[in-house]
Amino acid sequence: MAGGRLTRIAILKEDRCKPKECRQECKKSCPVVKTGKLCIEVSSQSKMAFISEELCIGCGICVKKCPFGAIEIINLPNDLDQDTTHRYGANTFKLHRLPVPRPGQVLGLVGTNGIGKSTALKVLAGKLKPNLGRFNNPPDWQEILAYFRGSELQNYFKRILEDNVKAIIKPQYVDHIPKEVKGNVRQILDRKDERNVKAELCVDLELNQVIDRNVGVLSGGELQRFAIAVVAMQNAGIYMFDEPSSYLDVKQRLKAAQVIRSLLRPC
Ligand SMILES: Nc1ncnc2c1ncn2[C@@H]1O[C@H](COP(=O)(O)OP(=O)(O)O)[C@@H](O)[C@H]1O
Ligand code: SF4
Ligand code: SF4
Ligand SMILES: [Mg+2]
Repeated sequence: MAGGRLTRIAILKEDRCKPKECRQECKKSCPVVKTGKLCIEVSSQSKMAFISEELCIGCGICVKKCPFGAIEIINLPNDLDQDTTHRYGANTFKLHRLPVPRPGQVLGLVGTNGIGKSTALKVLAGKLKPNLGRFNNPPDWQEILAYFRGSELQNYFKRILEDNVKAIIKPQYVDHIPKEVKGNVRQILDRKDERNVKAELCVDLELNQVIDRNVGVLSGGELQRFAIAVVAMQNAGIYMFDEPSSYLDVKQRLKAAQVIRSLLRPC
């Protein structure tokens, strides 16, 4: 990579940056600010510091000077910069590229917390419109499709948008389910059972013991198994399971993996 210009990503941790409690050490120590350019903008009145990724030279001085460890500077090779799929806002995480689901395959996403697995799944499920990094001026679907021209993702998104293929997702945070779904486990499962597999799933996912309970009283593990069942009993072209093993013990995780694998059908 010798000679290649590097691109900077500056990430500010919202919960750590406290301009009212520090002395804006970041701005005071930045060599670019010393030359008179607005590389870091912050005052004791700001809610949060702002770092200009165009002006930043990636020296890392501010990272060391911030008393709260609020800054992370990541140097990226330039070619990666062209592949931004999504960014939530300035000085936040950047998602690069996307994994492509293929017919007849189980695709697993593994990675540390915060690497972008849930974001990638939401984009692939059509629930989050990828902004290609332009959070201030988000592209419309026509532009997004043009951006993915020539890649498998263009066809993928076309099929999702035209409703030619249905994608369903089990959300990561199962403890939010009782806020959205009200009622008794049996009634909900009966309503969702498009594939007529309820009896089998209730055995595999140990749901018979809670079948007459209200969703609001289920434990984390019970909610997880209930959520996997609700997704698995519907007809869809693409099934996504975000963190399906949380709250489950080893045996239950293996069962959940079997249920997920059993969804592979010839298409
Ligand atoms: N709605 C949001 N707004 C701003 N930042 C977000 C939002 N959702 C997720 N993030 C951030 O994006 C990064 C990736 O998150 P996520 O996709 O949930 O990762 P993972 O699922 O791999 O743990 C994290 O740094 C997270 O804090
Ligand atoms: S990044 Fe650190 S030094 Fe800079 S304003 Fe935030 S808390 Fe203060
Ligand atoms: S990494 Fe260096 S150039 Fe970039 S904002 Fe921090 S101090 Fe300034
Ligand atoms: Mg996640």
